[in-house]
Amino acid sequence: MNRRNFIAFAGATIVVAGGVYYLSTDKKNFVRADIKDEWTGGISIKEDERTILQLASLAPSGHNTQPWFVKYIEPYHWIIGSDKSKWLLAVDPTQRETMLSIGAFLQNIEYAAGNFGYSCQFTVLATSNQDEDIAEVKFIKTYNSETFDIQKIKERRTIRSNYLADILKKEDVAYLTTDEYDFIRYIPNSAKEHQWLNEQTIEANRIQTCRDDAEKELAEWIRFSSKDAKVHCDGLTLASMEIEGIAAWYLRNFYGKADVMKNSFREKSVDSVIEQVSSSAGWLLITSKDNSVVTLLETGKRLQRLLLKIRERNIAIHPMTQILEEKATSQTIHSYIGVNDNVQFILRAGYVKSYPQPVSLRRPVNRFLRKI
Ligand SMILES: Cc1cc2nc3c(=O)[nH]c(=O)nc-3n(C[C@H](O)[C@H](O)[C@H](O)COP(=O)(O)O)c2cc1C
Repeated sequence: MNRRNFIAFAGATIVVAGGVYYLSTDKKNFVRADIKDEWTGGISIKEDERTILQLASLAPSGHNTQPWFVKYIEPYHWIIGSDKSKWLLAVDPTQRETMLSIGAFLQNIEYAAGNFGYSCQFTVLATSNQDEDIAEVKFIKTYNSETFDIQKIKERRTIRSNYLADILKKEDVAYLTTDEYDFIRYIPNSAKEHQWLNEQTIEANRIQTCRDDAEKELAEWIRFSSKDAKVHCDGLTLASMEIEGIAAWYLRNFYGKADVMKNSFREKSVDSVIEQVSSSAGWLLITSKDNSVVTLLETGKRLQRLLLKIRERNIAIHPMTQILEEKATSQTIHSYIGVNDNVQFILRAGYVKSYPQPVSLRRPVNRFLRKI
């Protein structure tokens, strides 16, 4: 083989080897549509109960832990529970956010059940955020139940990037806050409070990313590889964090829990928060009069009602809860923003040009259904 032939041969070998290597890697983000909904049996439930549970599980939750489970007492009679193994002890030590997420789950149950002709009779059982049994629900067949377009539940998602800077139109603010004036407040990006919330969100993220316990907890819930995502069907996937392309390929194949603890990862997280807050229509705050279990569940339901309204107006919402999670920032919010009530949600809001399909994962129903 002469020199020229050798170089050509070596080049082709490298390209082929590179191609073969690439084919053996984790090539694609694992998304919701990739989940095969296996029903391995165990508890036999009615088809409409299963659909209601599937829809309920599409509720949002912090780090997508899906902190709920359902005890099946008998057909159309369940207890909704809080799954302690899913609590976020480092960022949510009082389980405030767990209760809010379970509230969103309850709202989905109510809307989905209405669609099948049932009204829900809820009885709150919990007296503290740490109780396991949260609420009992009985489904009553009614002929004038409220129907709700369940497509809205299926299509709801958190969007984190590409927010436009236009402020929300008056009619959209009115639509989003109808019947909720006492609880939802819009802070447009022209207000001075907006700037403060931007800065404090960055600051709270800086503080949180420096906390090893919070970072370790986050590492437990990031699903870098498709294999991990497929096994767990929960947590923060690269697709849900809107990481695509070569960056996603690299992270899927070369990143793991230990990398989350590195300074470079922590710095990158704060950088992406700086970028996120740099463009939005402003902030929406959801407040409550107290912090009781019933109120937190109601507030979670309120969040979900709001989130289910936004897609039709091309509005995106991104919960950014770190100000409330870090002591240094949570203590100043009331005096600075001028609210006496308890702030339960800090939501970045904005119009988006396009609304992508949901990608975050959910555990199949049989994984959160328990027989008593
Ligand atoms: C109580 C609560 C707190 C949340 N906090 C944050 C947050 O601080 N940052 C963030 O990016 N998303 C936050 N989220 C959004 C979740 O990460 C998101 O709902 C979850 O990953 C599922 O994705 P989906 O909403 O697209 O279905 C929060 C959601 C809830 C209900």
